[in-house]
Amino acid sequence: MQKLVIEGGVPLEGDIFLHGAKNSALPILAGVLLCDGETVLENCPRLTDVFAACRILTHLGCRCMIQEHTVTVRVCDLRSDTIPEALMQEMRSSIIFLGAVLGRTGACHVSYPGGCELGPRPIDMHLDALRQMGAHFTIHGGQLDCTAPEGLHGAKIHLPFPSVGATENVMLAATLAQGRTVLHNAAREPEICDLASFLRTCGAKISGDGESTIVIDGVEKLRGGTYSILPDRIAGVTYLGAAAITGGTVCLRGISARPLENMLPVLEQAGCRVYPEPDRMHLLAPRRLRAVPLIRTMPHPGFPTDAQAIFMAMLSLADGVSVLEENIFENRYRHVDALVKMGAKIHVSGRIAVVTGVRSLSGASVAATDLRGGAAMVLAGLAAQGRTEIRQISHIDRGYETIETVLRSVGGRVTRVDDDN
Ligand code: UD1
Repeated sequence: MQKLVIEGGVPLEGDIFLHGAKNSALPILAGVLLCDGETVLENCPRLTDVFAACRILTHLGCRCMIQEHTVTVRVCDLRSDTIPEALMQEMRSSIIFLGAVLGRTGACHVSYPGGCELGPRPIDMHLDALRQMGAHFTIHGGQLDCTAPEGLHGAKIHLPFPSVGATENVMLAATLAQGRTVLHNAAREPEICDLASFLRTCGAKISGDGESTIVIDGVEKLRGGTYSILPDRIAGVTYLGAAAITGGTVCLRGISARPLENMLPVLEQAGCRVYPEPDRMHLLAPRRLRAVPLIRTMPHPGFPTDAQAIFMAMLSLADGVSVLEENIFENRYRHVDALVKMGAKIHVSGRIAVVTGVRSLSGASVAATDLRGGAAMVLAGLAAQGRTEIRQISHIDRGYETIETVLRSVGGRVTRVDDDN
């Protein structure tokens, strides 16, 4: 077990190079299963979730090679359509393999995903959609057995909510299905578009991604290709937030304004100045951040739930009262206790969190509760007076590649040490 130790109070200055998006890499790695031959994924982040996805591919019979930020996968004959429970547990998003395995082999056996740190993680929309495409499910003893004896076929599907995972599972299942699938109320996140463009690179016929209706015309086969994964906008806004909370100036390299456009106006409202260039983004923080009256998390293009904890950490030091409303996940305020322990004034009632900005935070010993909540603690630690220790950093390692190295490169005093307790 390891922990991060942060000596706060240093404004971050310098350039940060952004890694590829976790939330693109995972569904794209599932999509590789649909391709014959060799697929090369570039700009693939070196994250524990990505390594877990590669272990699933290897278990299913693929040959995976990871070299720096390139993952090469060779799909021969799949030797299994079962993902063992231990592998399913390693990564909460492993349900994303369901549509791909089912689409490729006509069957898939997985353990039923339990709850997670963000609350219950239901998959009813995934199953309903796949059922409409000809899949049958039996669920017993925590095991989910799916078959499509006659193969999957296209369908007209309307999602009750634009779920990212359900949209991806339908896209993956529909790519090799017979006929046309029309998916209404689809999720519109940039990572959905990234999955669609990867699949198109390999020969899929998909249009409408980025809009609410996605149309997929099934094809007989996909051939592997070379594809470069989109930069991680959430890691990006985390590092911009780290600069903002410490009163620093950073240049985020490798990302344009577009994928950040639902978050940049909020940074500006908080008093930051942002200067976008085609392939980079500069942020200049004010001496003290300003409160933001209301941030409501919504499906894309609304404000992303994945950035809620990051902004909460920043606003805990802002001048005035900010209100956050979490509308996507039930249990996404678990980082609040740690921030309060560090001196933040936050009151939570149901979906609403009221943050009354304080003048300073003080270092404390805390434990990461989930990926983005852990990142929020890192931001608070960077700005706090004194020393912060963050335990349970395996949560953080799921989504940030060596966060301590990145932050040290811009002056943050962050080290990773073995946690002996
Ligand atoms: C993805 C992202 C995650 C992000 C989330 C919302 C990945 C790997 N993860 O998660 O980082 O926070 O989108 O932007 O891309 N729901 C149901 N039934 C379902 C499916 C979802 O009730 O069948 C609910 C969920 O409980 C949640 C909401 O819908 O309350 C949104 O979930 P969804 O968009 O599916 O998120 P994920 O794909 O799990």
